[in-house]
Amino acid sequence: MERMLTVSHLQTAFDTDQGKIISVDDVSFALNPGETLALVGESGCGKSVTALSIMRLLGKSSRIEGGQILLDGTNILALDEKQMQDIRGNQISMIFQEPMTSLNPVFTIGYQIMEAIQIHQSLDKKQARDKAIEMLKKVGLPRAEQMMDEYPFALSGGMRQRVMIAMALASKPKVLIADEPTTALDVTVQAQIMRLMKELCTESGTAIILITHDLGVVAEMADKVIVMYAGQVVEDTDVFTLFEKPNHPYTQGLLGSVARLDADDDTQLVAIPGAVPARYQSMIGCRFYNRCSFAKDHCRTQSPPLSEIAQGHAVRCWEADEVGRNREERYE
Ligand SMILES: Nc1ncnc2c1ncn2[C@@H]1O[C@H](COP(=O)(O)OP(=O)(O)O)[C@@H](O)[C@H]1O
Ligand SMILES: [Mg+2]
Repeated sequence: MERMLTVSHLQTAFDTDQGKIISVDDVSFALNPGETLALVGESGCGKSVTALSIMRLLGKSSRIEGGQILLDGTNILALDEKQMQDIRGNQISMIFQEPMTSLNPVFTIGYQIMEAIQIHQSLDKKQARDKAIEMLKKVGLPRAEQMMDEYPFALSGGMRQRVMIAMALASKPKVLIADEPTTALDVTVQAQIMRLMKELCTESGTAIILITHDLGVVAEMADKVIVMYAGQVVEDTDVFTLFEKPNHPYTQGLLGSVARLDADDDTQLVAIPGAVPARYQSMIGCRFYNRCSFAKDHCRTQSPPLSEIAQGHAVRCWEADEVGRNREERYE
């Protein structure tokens, strides 16, 4: 199938008072139309910076230092800002976690959706209004006509997020990036909104990059998964393999910290001890070394490559074989 988005060897850096930080280090993945890729990992692993790199929405102190991003065959890193503006919100849309980038409180819902529609589509006011109402209905908002004249504060968090999805999908984008889109909402609403998002994207062939630390959401939504740790991809696989045969100690740790439905009530969540290192680019050896129960001496001194252990399954770990054997023993 034709690739919709290909990210190859992306490297993104920040200039800080303490010098240069490489936040995303050699990240690669590819998406087909209609496919959902989940980017998972703890806070600070480079997920949002990866997303903002694709949108080319990095601030002044940050830049893409290497790699290639192809959107439906177009190298978007070679485009100027004006060309990029035509792509943003049109061919690639992004929805953020509230309240970071919510709606503007001083304009009506209708005004904001119509504006988003008219930036990219040459529709007159009446047509844009009809399109806006159609999109609001599509995302399951029942009083769409009335809602056009309301202000964001009149809506619940879940309704606001539906409006954001309506705006993001109005142009039938090739790619939708959703960065922790529902973490601010309650669990039932989260699930409804995720399903809706997936349904609309399947309908329009839109590929989704879903950033989440919720592995339940990954299981329900994703086709493929990239696990990131300290700016790097540590495991890259399809969603079934992720849950059935996780082969990086970090992935196993993330899975271990998911509450099991069949667990006793007083079972503690097993979080991974330690924290993501803050300045990871100067580390030699494996970046997960100090948190890893499989670590050997060479893991401290030599940085492991991302290598394919089975078709379509890549892992960045010197001890991947041992980790796999150990997993099989535990589940037998
Ligand atoms: N504006 C910034 N200036 C300096 N460093 C930043 C900035 N934004 C992000 N970073 C660093 O980039 C790394 C990745 O951050 P981010 O992509 O936001 O993580 P995630 O989304 O996985 O939680 C972190 O170490 C973070 O400190
Ligand atoms: Mg983030």
